[in-house]
Formats: sequence, structure tokens, C-alpha cells
Amino acid sequence: MSTDTTSGHGHGHGHGHGHDTELDWEAMADNLETNGELHLPALRSTASRLAELLTDPTRIFDIGSGPGVMTCVFAEIFPTAEVVAVDPTPGLLDRVVARADRLGVGKRVTTVQAELPGLPGSLGTADLVWSSRAVHHLGDQQAALHELAGVLRPSGVLAVSEAGLPMRYLPRDIGIGRPGLQARLDAVQESWFEAMRAELPGATSVIEDWPAMLTRAGLTDVRSFATLLDLPAPLTETARGYLREHLTRLRDTMTEALDEDDHQTLGVLVDPDAAEGILRRPDAFLLSADSIFTGRAAG
Ligand SMILES: C[S@@+](CC[C@H](N)C(=O)[O-])C[C@H]1O[C@@H](n2cnc3c(N)ncnc32)[C@H](O)[C@@H]1O
Repeated sequence: MSTDTTSGHGHGHGHGHGHDTELDWEAMADNLETNGELHLPALRSTASRLAELLTDPTRIFDIGSGPGVMTCVFAEIFPTAEVVAVDPTPGLLDRVVARADRLGVGKRVTTVQAELPGLPGSLGTADLVWSSRAVHHLGDQQAALHELAGVLRPSGVLAVSEAGLPMRYLPRDIGIGRPGLQARLDAVQESWFEAMRAELPGATSVIEDWPAMLTRAGLTDVRSFATLLDLPAPLTETARGYLREHLTRLRDTMTEALDEDDHQTLGVLVDPDAAEGILRRPDAFLLSADSIFTGRAAG
């Protein structure tokens, strides 16, 4: 889900380059789960595409699972597989367990509290290793891919969801402030992302050519595909609530990077009583594209 520009990272670093890059994963639990639920059609389509690359996987890892929306999609699409959600954040793993029980797949979903780098040897290996929007929170992304590839069984598949397109949800001219707000928010988020990465332990630059990186991690048959989430206007209340939270976080964490006009516009957009606010305006939509890169371990 290419909506990760305000997502936190688990390392609790400070304030760099005029951006507050310290965010709290536990506090983002609701937002992550709602984001996942909004993306369910795209996630199911991704899991079905991955099923074409595998024959009856019996063990699947979701590394950096968050609240486990994709973990549970895997349990649904691969009805005999054990799915292991791995995440360093206990509150998110509690969500995985609750979600899996609620959806009736609790017997096949387990959780392990662990993080990259340094997955525990007791985790074992899997036929499919999935990691979405977690690798970019590691200082050394190439090393993370090596580690993920290292827990694959022979002929197993690593699938990494990174990159994609920035989420779109408003017209260019929204009738308040200066037209082009979303493009300016993209730029601010890009620079936040750069500051976030620079502050990660062991931050290492790499050309983010994911197919080349997967190949360097020792994988073959490297491919990619993209999924699209297209929720046209008028949006549901849930989608509007999700966007309101997203915009609120942008307004509150990117304050220094936004000009006064855009800051005020964001204030109107998040105002629950404003007719031009995201909760009430008829023109809000949600369009998002994710790229998934896959590679296979030697047989
Ligand atoms: C943006 S969320 C993505 C959650 C989910 N995979 C998704 O796509 O919605 C990033 C997740 O990575 C986890 N995470 C943070 N640092 C990590 C690390 N060093 N190793 C593994 N997971 C990590 C966070 O706890 C969080 O659940």
C-alpha cells in the first residue's frame, strides 16, 4: 500500500532536517488496520498472483506484518498453510491474533515478536516470505533483503511490496488554498522520508532498483507487478475517516515544511464541521498503486 509516507519506524529517532521523523507504531495500529482493510481487494489480488508462483505452500511469513491484514488474506487464499506474522511491535501482534480469531483462521496464524536485522533462528523457514512497507524502515535495505531471502525454503518465493505511486485523494483544485496541494504534500513527504531514512541505524544508500536488489540477494526469476486500489467518489465514511487521520498527521508532523497557506488548507480539510472538509466534501476519492517485486530461491 503506497500510503506509507507518514508511517512511523520502530527505532524512535529524533528530529532531523526540520522534520519530526519519530512516530509510534502502536499509536498507528487503527490507521494501519483501516488502511489494510481499504486495500483488501488489492491485497487479495496480490495473494492470488503470488499463488500462481507457488505450489501448495505450507508455511508463509509476513515480516513487518503490522496488524495482520495481509497475514489473514494469506490464511484465506492458502487454506492449508500456516501463516506466521513477525513484527517488533507487541500491540500490532495482539491485533493480528484478534483479527485471525475474528476471521476464523486463528488456528493457522501465529505471531513472533522479532525484527530485522536478526530474525531468530527459531523462526525457521517458509515457502513464501512476504514483506510490505517494512524494508524501507531498515538502514541497510540490501542486507534486509539478504536476510529475508535467507529464510526461504528451496524454490521458495520472496515478495516485497515497496514503491508504487503516492496516494491520490483530492482534485488538483479543491476550491480552497492554492491548487496543486497534493503535489506539494508529495514533495514534503518525500523529504520527510529522506530524513527518516537518514536517521535509521546503519543508514546505507542504495539505488532502489528492487529487481537488481533481489537478484543481489541471490534470487532468480525476478519479476514485478502492480496492484491498483480505485475507490471512486463518494467515499465511504471509513475511507473518509482514514484520510482525515492521514491529513491530520501531515498537518501535525510536517508543520515546518508546509507553507502557511497549505497549513491552513489542511486545517479546513480535517475540520469535521467544515463543508470543504474531507469528511463531507463530495469530490474525495482514493486511488493508490503498489509495486510488488518477487524472486525465487534456488531449488
Ligand atoms: C508501515 S507498517 C506496514 C505494515 C504492513 N506490512 C502493511 O503493509 O500494512 C511497517 C511495519 O514494520 C514494522 N517494523 C518496524 N521496524 C521493523 C523492523 N526492524 N523489522 C521488522 N518489522 C519492522 C512495524 O512495527 C510496522 O508494523
